[in-house]
Amino acid sequence: MNIEKKVLLTIFGATGDLAKRKLYPSLFGLFKKGILREHFAVIGTARRPWEHETLREVVLESIKDDVENEEFAEKFASHFYYQPHDVQDSEHYRTLKQLGDTLEERYQTEGNQVFYLAMSPNFFGTIALHLKSENIVTEHGYSRLIIEKPFGTDLETATELNEALSNTFTEEQIYRIDHYLGKEMIQNVSAIRFANIIFESIWNKDYIDNIQITFAEAIGVEDRGGYYDGSGALRDMVQNHILQVLSLLAMEPPKKFAEEEIRKEKIKAFQAIHKYTEDEALRYFIPGQYTAGEINNERFIGYREEPNVPEDSLTETFVAGAFFIDNERWDGVPFYIRTGKRLVEKGTRINVVFKTSPQLLTSEECGTNVEPNVLTIYIQPTEGFSLSLNGKEMGQDFNLSPVALSYRHDSEFLGNSPEAYEKLLHDTLDGNSSNFSHWEEVKRSWELIDVIKKAWTNHHTELYTYPARTMGPMESYELLERNGHEWIWQPEKWYIERKQLRCDF
Ligand code: BG6
Repeated sequence: MNIEKKVLLTIFGATGDLAKRKLYPSLFGLFKKGILREHFAVIGTARRPWEHETLREVVLESIKDDVENEEFAEKFASHFYYQPHDVQDSEHYRTLKQLGDTLEERYQTEGNQVFYLAMSPNFFGTIALHLKSENIVTEHGYSRLIIEKPFGTDLETATELNEALSNTFTEEQIYRIDHYLGKEMIQNVSAIRFANIIFESIWNKDYIDNIQITFAEAIGVEDRGGYYDGSGALRDMVQNHILQVLSLLAMEPPKKFAEEEIRKEKIKAFQAIHKYTEDEALRYFIPGQYTAGEINNERFIGYREEPNVPEDSLTETFVAGAFFIDNERWDGVPFYIRTGKRLVEKGTRINVVFKTSPQLLTSEECGTNVEPNVLTIYIQPTEGFSLSLNGKEMGQDFNLSPVALSYRHDSEFLGNSPEAYEKLLHDTLDGNSSNFSHWEEVKRSWELIDVIKKAWTNHHTELYTYPARTMGPMESYELLERNGHEWIWQPEKWYIERKQLRCDF
């Protein structure tokens, strides 16, 4: 039986997409598990003049695919209250406080409060300030703040934002969501590393040749052209999700598997990532942008033709690059990363490429090259991992052939994987912030990213194009070839072989 959490949750931006798509279904997940039961209430706020009932209907609509028992769902929705709210207006915070006090009394939430800011970061500072000046944040029970990305647009704005928040909340009270850290297989990275001596003992430059992190998306910018054009792939995906994953792969083993220790090691890993000069950044990072393309007889428009995107936009929808880590363990090992919109297919995976074994068996003796062992961690859409090994081909001759030890969940199992947001909300209620981004990590990641962005702007770097639904520009392949490497995951080959994709892009 799960222990019930007592809490009053206030969501700023309750009418928005994030609340509907992620937060309400996740809260329902916690309700079904009994983590939220009797002693909780949710206040939804936004500008729209909704009633409590309007919000409850929206909540019911957002969970409808998950409902087995109508009465149970109604009971869940009855814990939701709506308060129209202008984030700039002090008077509105007073009304909010009154409602909060009433609900605390009614549901006996013991003064525990979580504030979820599911809205534009422009308002984070104002909200935090009012939460303090209007005495909504109190010493009675706990107060925690959850915020969504983007956390600033560069180091300067991120620092300003952090200062604004720290007037009201301490670092321990701030939970900066990076939804990738809630994904099952990202959390599994540490299990694979630290619970398997066969990996942890060789997790270093002596045995690992390079590491490749791919976050590919088949979708374009959809209806987010306005936001995306001001951001680009580097800020949208690399500054946060990719660097977080990289730090989990690179960090030193924590002394014990406890929140404090993990955080400490992750921060150290971030700090050890080499900060490029502009010249180095130009050598190691390339931006790309999709043009119109076609796969399997389906046509896709180019980025510049997307709604709300200027027709001369120079925003990158793809980025490939290499990070290095300045420490004993990783000296000289490239961590290649790539991410982009409108790539061949959706797929997030990590390939850890080991060095080839000392040539006991040469390719002449074995009739083939000795392939490197590769550990692949599949994050999504399927989850699991595989390890490629060299075995002997059946028969008289001694020929090598690759074999894979593979464990991938089928889609049924995947369907049961808890939503990342549900896990992260649960962590917040537990007061466990190890799966959230610490300010020191955010700060360092902006230091790393700002240089790359500046290098591209100051040197008018060429924006390499790629047809929609390919794996990015040729320059991304060349980046690895320069070091005698290649991308392990090349999903385009499957489509090219079946003539669903042209090979002359
Ligand atoms: C978000 C980005 O943080 O992550 C989006 O802003 C991107 O552009 C999304 O599509 C990808 O997340 P997921 O969980 O769908 O892989």
